[in-house]
Amino acid sequence: MASTKTIRLKVLRQDGPSSRDTKRWEEFDIAWHPRMNVISALMEIRKNPQTADGTKTAPVVWESSCLEEVCGSCTMLVNGKVRQACSALVDQVSPNGEPITLAPMTKFPLVRDLVVDRSRMFEDLKKVKAWVHLDGSHELGPGPRQSQENQEEAYPLSRCMTCGCCLEACPQVNGQSSFIGPAAINQVRLFNLHPSGKMHAAARLESLMGEGGIGDCGKAQNCVVVCPKEIPLVDSIAVVSRQTTKHMLFGWLLD
Ligand code: SF4
Ligand code: SF4
Ligand code: FES
Repeated sequence: MASTKTIRLKVLRQDGPSSRDTKRWEEFDIAWHPRMNVISALMEIRKNPQTADGTKTAPVVWESSCLEEVCGSCTMLVNGKVRQACSALVDQVSPNGEPITLAPMTKFPLVRDLVVDRSRMFEDLKKVKAWVHLDGSHELGPGPRQSQENQEEAYPLSRCMTCGCCLEACPQVNGQSSFIGPAAINQVRLFNLHPSGKMHAAARLESLMGEGGIGDCGKAQNCVVVCPKEIPLVDSIAVVSRQTTKHMLFGWLLD
């Protein structure tokens, strides 16, 4: 027998980046299914985009790809908390049938409805050179061996999916600041650890030493609490902060 249970979603919508006059909450009632998550609930709305009072509306726009908390693209505010919508189970976020609120992240430019533009995070990865340089496309032979200890420190840092949760939660990331945020700082730690990557450690540290760099972290530690990949962001900030101090004091000796 088909379930008669329904769930209510309250979605904060806006038709486009410059259409602030279209910003509004819309409510939707949809049929509940076992093991539903927020993305499958949004898919139900798309089948019949009509608000709870029966008014026809445009389908809600959101972004998703992997559906297994790996790509980071579905990050949004679910009941006010930043997280991935694909791993937000309806029964967990609304245990007693409470309405579920969905809103876009606030620290990134809005594209439409629940979609934001996270380009700044990818630009920041370029700024800190979050890669291992290659000297050419010819065969270079085996690189230096990475010790077990080094691998164990690097692996948790490598799980970042550039989702934006840490920037959303960070009080230092706001309209008045150019703070790069914890995700890129963590990537500096990761690539400075790598046996080949560390050849460009100085350039990475220098990219964090100016305005908007690591000195702007207020150490509020909100970032580590919200990171879905449990990346030790506060440790990474402390490690990279020590590296930048050392580079500032003694870097000239090594040049
Ligand atoms: S420790 Fe606080 S201020 Fe620093 S990056 Fe994390 S949330 Fe932002
Ligand atoms: S550090 Fe964590 S919260 Fe920040 S972007 Fe990476 S995975 Fe997301
Ligand atoms: S769809 Fe990839 S993390 Fe949710």
